[in-house]
Parts: sequence; structure tokens; C-alpha cells
Amino acid sequence: MTNSQLYNAIFHRRSIRKYDMTPLPVDTIEKLQEYTYNVKPLDEGIRYEIDYLGSADVKNLLPIKAPHYICLYSEKKGNYLMNAGFLLQQIDLYLSYNNLASCWLGMAKPAKGVPMLINGLEFVIMLAFGNTTETIHRVDTSEFKRKNLSEISNVAGAEALLEPVRFAPSASNTQTWFFSGDLDVITVSRKKLNLLKAQVYEKMNQIDIGIALFHLWLSVDHQGKKVSYNFDQDIAPNGYEFMAKVKISKK
Ligand SMILES: Cc1cc2nc3c(=O)[nH]c(=O)nc-3n(C[C@H](O)[C@H](O)[C@H](O)COP(=O)(O)O)c2cc1C
Repeated sequence: MTNSQLYNAIFHRRSIRKYDMTPLPVDTIEKLQEYTYNVKPLDEGIRYEIDYLGSADVKNLLPIKAPHYICLYSEKKGNYLMNAGFLLQQIDLYLSYNNLASCWLGMAKPAKGVPMLINGLEFVIMLAFGNTTETIHRVDTSEFKRKNLSEISNVAGAEALLEPVRFAPSASNTQTWFFSGDLDVITVSRKKLNLLKAQVYEKMNQIDIGIALFHLWLSVDHQGKKVSYNFDQDIAPNGYEFMAKVKISKK
């Protein structure tokens, strides 16, 4: 799987919520497992593990049933939620590129009796995946329901760079990200939440930012450049919370 294949998947992926419950062939799962060994973290200092669950192992408040689930377990420290989004979005794009259906599930948890803890690492979030009879890909980017670029960015000249980031999936499609700064250093922030919304979205929106950061990583790579991250607290636009600074430079 090349970076440009993952980059292209950004423009066609969509969430699928209806699955064919027939388990996938063993070699498909093995190839996925091989891919997951090679995903790159946002923060190398956070320990994590990826595990696979079957349909009986998951409880979900929403009626979404899939033959397989991929779960992220992590050390709970620092930017572990952004790291979780960054890691599992690589798998979401891999699945879409390989004509498999997937959906992020923020409401689902391992069922009773299935561990919430693996080797001291806590369950964070999962993706449902499998085959489907539904259309897996968007044909045209006009099919994405997303905010306009002007609502999520004030970076001059960043249209091409941020277009793939704009298409990132987010919990309930909340898209709380905001990009400021310039083409050399982009500040990534997220909308501050009121107490009520924070109960539901405080964690999810941090995962969303990790997802957007992976789309940005692919977009920068597509332009032949590289990124480095700085998570030291800094100023963010009014009403937003600072998440990361992304420095973009020549390879
Ligand atoms: C962190 C996260 C959690 C999500 N949780 C759920 C969920 O519990 N149930 C669901 O049906 N969709 C869930 N979604 C999928 C979003 O609703 C979906 O990505 C968004 O509406 C954009 O649609 P698209 O993925 O088809 O582009 C989640 C997405 C993210 C990123």
C-alpha cells in the first residue's frame, strides 16, 4: 500500500453502516494485520495495540452490526486520542482502497466479558469493517457533506493542501477543526465545546483531529514535502482550543 494509494482513497471513502455478516476470507484479514503492523503513530511515545473482535464481541447502542471490528487499545497519556485517530484512519483508508466497507464507531464498546484492557492498555475506539452490498466509494467529491474551506481555514493559498483534510470523517460529522497560520507552519485547533456537548464530543473531537492530521500528512506528502509536529500549548483563534502546530518543509 503506497502513500499515494491512501491519498487517493481520501476522495472516495465513505462510512458504511450495513454489512454482509459473512466473515472475510482469512487471507484478507492476514493482509490487513500485516498492514496494521506498519501504520505510523503520531506520537512514538504512546504505547498501543490493535486487536480484532467478531460480531458477538461488541455492544453498540446503535443498530450497526458487522462481521469484524478493529479495536485500538492505548496508554492513556498525552495526545493518545489524537494518536488513536491518526492510527485508525490509516486503516479506514486501507479498507476503502481495498474495496472493504468500514465505519468508525464511537458509541460501541467490547461486550461484557471481552477485555477493556489489554496488557495494561485501555480500549479507546473501534472501526467496524466487512463486505457490503452498498456502494463503497463516492464517485465524486460533491457527494461529501462538509463545511466549506473558508469555514475551517484562514491559511492563504492552502486550498489544494487542505482540500483532502476537509474531507476527513469526524464524529457526527462535527468537523470542529480549524487551520490557521501560513503554508510553512499550520496551527490546528478545534472548536471549544459547551459543557453539554463536551460530555459527548470531548474525546471524539480529539480523535477527529488525529484523523484530520493524518489526511494532512498524506496531503503534505503528496506535495513532495514532510511534516513535523509541535504539541506545546500555543495560542489558538478565539473560541478554539490549540491542538498542534504542523511544520511543513522540503524533504
Ligand atoms: C471518531 C468517530 C466516531 C464515529 N462514531 C460513529 C458512530 O458511533 N456511529 C455511526 O454510525 N457513525 C459514526 N461515525 C461516522 C461519522 O458519522 C461519519 O464519518 C461522518 O458522518 C462523515 O461521513 P462519511 O464518513 O461517510 O464521510 C464516527 C466517526 C468518527 C470519526
